[in-house]
Amino acid sequence: MKPEELEQTLVLIKPDALKNSLTGYVLSQLSEFHTGLSFAGAKIVHVNQLLAEEHYAEHRGKPFFPPLLEYIQGNVHYPDAPDKRRVIALVYRGPGAIQKIRDIAGPTNPHVAREKRPGCIRALGTIVPIKDAEGNVISERMDNLIHASANPTDAEREIKLWFRPVDIPSLMRAYPTEVCEEHFYFKGNQLYTTHEPESVCLLAPGDIVWKSDLEALHALQNGMPPCCSLQAVAAKYLINEDRE
Ligand code: CDP
Ligand code: MG
Repeated sequence: MKPEELEQTLVLIKPDALKNSLTGYVLSQLSEFHTGLSFAGAKIVHVNQLLAEEHYAEHRGKPFFPPLLEYIQGNVHYPDAPDKRRVIALVYRGPGAIQKIRDIAGPTNPHVAREKRPGCIRALGTIVPIKDAEGNVISERMDNLIHASANPTDAEREIKLWFRPVDIPSLMRAYPTEVCEEHFYFKGNQLYTTHEPESVCLLAPGDIVWKSDLEALHALQNGMPPCCSLQAVAAKYLINEDRE
């Protein structure tokens, strides 16, 4: 099979889509019948601060970054119902998966989406002004219902951020894996190879791990620059664990 036929992309059905009962609509728009794409992974995620920050790391420092983190964590749409704060994370696979889903999602800005691409998913979104302490509008939060990876590099980074290899059936994994031979623990943004009180065990001997994650952990152990941050490796093991 050609690489483009094995292409994968990450989709997030964001909290505003869940709040507005648009999950079925989004899934139907992305269905195999319409797109020729199929699922490789799916999970319900209560998004914590670490995962939100890593997912949107490229936007760190921008005025819309803090409101964006609140939005993706569900705090905006479910202020009084923490148990409903969630996103649905999906891996789709198939020919041209990344561009096909970006097209169905539409432009980032819902107003632009309505004008330029009526009928796309994000045309159903909304924009909320972001104000500073004096009440001046400094940016906009775009509640646009769906995330879709923008390119193959982002897709790989994002799928590996949200999914452990075992969350995806082995025949459907697009990226190389290895069997881990050590213990790795995480606590207070530090990596340990022996158990520390209140640490989380990320990996144990025999666990299947993304090869690039293992390379990042070995680089960190040896004081070398890792291919991705420790937080990006750890985030997927902390999903729905209610501890950071
Ligand atoms: O999601 P996409 O790749 O199309 O856009 P982005 O520029 O990477 O921005 C990521 C997300 O940040 C968007 O989908 C919006 O939800 C949000 N955003 C925002 O709230 N306000 C902005 N001015 C720009 C983006
Ligand atoms: Mg983007």
